[in-house]
Amino acid sequence: MCGIVGYIGKKTNVDQVLIDGLKTLEYRGYDSAGIAILEDEVKIIKEVGKVANLEAIVKKENFHEASKGIAHTRWATHGHVDKVNAHPFKVGEVTLVHNGIIENFETLKKDLMSSGYEFKSSTDTEVVAALIDSLIKKHNDISKAICEAEDILIGSYALLIMVDRDIDSLYVVRKDSPLIIGVADDKNVVASDINVILKYTNKYILLDNYENAKLTKDKWTIFDKNGKEMNKKVLTIDMKSEDISKGVYEDYMLKEIEEEPIVLQDNIDVYLKDEETLLKNIPDLTKFKKIFIVACGSAMHAGLVGKHFLEEYADTEVVVEVASEFRYKKNFFSKNDLVILISQSGETADTIAALRLAKAQGVKTMAIVNAINSTIARDSDYVLYTYAKTEIAVATTKAYLLQVVTLLAIALNKGLTSKKLERSFVLEKLKEIKEIPAKINSLLSRMDEYNKVAEEIKDEEDIFFIGRKVDYSLAMEGSLKLKEISYIHSDTYQAGELKHGTISLIENGTKVFAIITDSSIASKTLSNMEEVKARGGKIILITTSELDDEYDFNYEKIVLPKTSEMLSVILAVIPLQLIAYRTAKMRGCNVDQPRNLAKSVTVE
Ligand code: AGP
Repeated sequence: MCGIVGYIGKKTNVDQVLIDGLKTLEYRGYDSAGIAILEDEVKIIKEVGKVANLEAIVKKENFHEASKGIAHTRWATHGHVDKVNAHPFKVGEVTLVHNGIIENFETLKKDLMSSGYEFKSSTDTEVVAALIDSLIKKHNDISKAICEAEDILIGSYALLIMVDRDIDSLYVVRKDSPLIIGVADDKNVVASDINVILKYTNKYILLDNYENAKLTKDKWTIFDKNGKEMNKKVLTIDMKSEDISKGVYEDYMLKEIEEEPIVLQDNIDVYLKDEETLLKNIPDLTKFKKIFIVACGSAMHAGLVGKHFLEEYADTEVVVEVASEFRYKKNFFSKNDLVILISQSGETADTIAALRLAKAQGVKTMAIVNAINSTIARDSDYVLYTYAKTEIAVATTKAYLLQVVTLLAIALNKGLTSKKLERSFVLEKLKEIKEIPAKINSLLSRMDEYNKVAEEIKDEEDIFFIGRKVDYSLAMEGSLKLKEISYIHSDTYQAGELKHGTISLIENGTKVFAIITDSSIASKTLSNMEEVKARGGKIILITTSELDDEYDFNYEKIVLPKTSEMLSVILAVIPLQLIAYRTAKMRGCNVDQPRNLAKSVTVE
């Protein structure tokens, strides 16, 4: 997704500030980048490809010290990937960058063209620049122009705007797209996410929808959508720069997998330390008889595991929906329903839309989110943070793990409060959970096993994953991890479904991952594995030590450390993540920034 960076403050090498900021945002995914700096006049440089390409050109420009500039990484939504469509855009007096999608830009473009504006690009953003320029001319007042633009624009936008006539200010506007304003005595730094701000200040302000800001080098003023000045709380970031550095690791993804025992302990300390934390830090959900879990991608896969926990341990009916479907389909809510939204970034456009839909229909909402103060966190009735700290790699690992663990905590809490679970059972599980970080550590040390599997599959073109019940949910996440970073096609099937069609795909040597943690269906999945083997398929099994003791599986296998069945579900994803990681590395893939992908999908 697009990333935006803006600086206004004491004179400095603004070009370097902006380039550094764009580099910090690279993990969001993009295909071109650009900067605009005010020297005697606004100078704009844009380039396709990596930020390094832009940086090389910027260096040759020998920018002087300056006090204001904006920059952008573009993930193309409207128009090809080329310099013409790259941001920033300058139309008339207005220079701006934009993250989001304007839905009515074609109509606006026609109107603006009829009043004499000409357009070079096919983007919605250039239209926004022309609209604001036209409104400034109409009102002869920048703030009034911005307020009217907010009434006219339909869609999502985070805008950074420089206006020729006001060299001392930088204007910021937000609706639905993420935006953070870092504030300090002698500068203000604006960006799409907190990681850019960290280097300059630990104080920040969040704009809510339709709010806008006027920043100068040592001041900030916030206005509501009617242009009325308003107060805003200054928040403090509780992160350090090192939280977002790769440190000794080759890739963020490996760093984040290896952080899993540490951040898991943080999550346990908040929700699962003892009966008191379990009841105090999770709201009482007894009254909710049916729960909808709505999310995208891996977060949705975590939701599927959460469904298993809530149905098994809290005796609660759960429906899991993909957010991009949920928001358009007919939904049937009753007053005792709860909608849980799961999101690492808290900024996923489809999940935000699902949240808005639920709230509009008067349904209570709970966010399970990693990014503190993100949109979904701020706008939900309840929020449970996952405490995975910053996750940079596009393929989520530690955040997914803690989404699953937080859902387990919710299920144990609800099972206890609704008396579906014996207190002794819950206390026993809380005791067992304390051992899970160490068990994950032991899994992390078995890289030779994952390398062996990766060697076996790295040249495959098609790989299948099978499982039943919660193991199918785990298989879906294992398949997505492999696909999104190694680019090997893979599909997931409910093991019982194979014989209804897809077993036709199994031929000699086809690699099939089977996952069995659930004893209630182990023998059934084992039969499906036999069916695969009988047709020449090669099974790679991930299972528990208890089940391996019982069945003595005669397959290539990765056996999880001994723990209860409930908690094996948490452990099973670790080998899947590391097998995907090692396979992608062997294939020379960019594991942190896979092609075409973005860390936070802030467009629909
Ligand atoms: C997972 O590895 C992917 N990066 C992707 O599926 C992600 O889980 C999905 O886009 C949802 O993102 P969110 O959790 O930030 O809402």
